[in-house]
Amino acid sequence: MIIDLKPLEALIEGNKYKVTILSNASAYLYHSLENINWLGFYLLCDKTLYLGPFQGKIACIEIPVGKGVCGNTIKEDKTLVVDNVLEYPGHIACDSNSRSEVCIPLHIGDMTYGLLDIDSPIFNRFNKELVCELEKAAKIIEDALEKAI
Ligand code: SME
Repeated sequence: MIIDLKPLEALIEGNKYKVTILSNASAYLYHSLENINWLGFYLLCDKTLYLGPFQGKIACIEIPVGKGVCGNTIKEDKTLVVDNVLEYPGHIACDSNSRSEVCIPLHIGDMTYGLLDIDSPIFNRFNKELVCELEKAAKIIEDALEKAI
């Protein structure tokens, strides 16, 4: 098992507020994974992504849609995996230790809500198997968010 998703579901299910869900989800996932230096959420409002709950070093607070890995994840509306961020044109380096990254968009109904962003200090950290697990985690988070205010 790469990530135990049952405790994540139990932790965030029925939480009243979205910020509570995102806060504990970031802590749970960050501490469930090895070789990760940043994990958190960016929330979409008016074509800009705003920093949400996270674990790791302080990060950029605003990212326009279409900029960096995060902005392109929203623009393309699909998971983006970057094996070597040093070669990604327009990569936004919040933590200079980051070497690979994955961004997964989050939706509530048919609305794009934001994304889950994870950085690793090693190249090629996010293989297909891990990305598939992270997408399952994202789905659990979406389901909890849908019922929260
Ligand atoms: N690297 C991201 C910016 C966010 S930080 O990694 C936390 C990007 O290129 O959009």
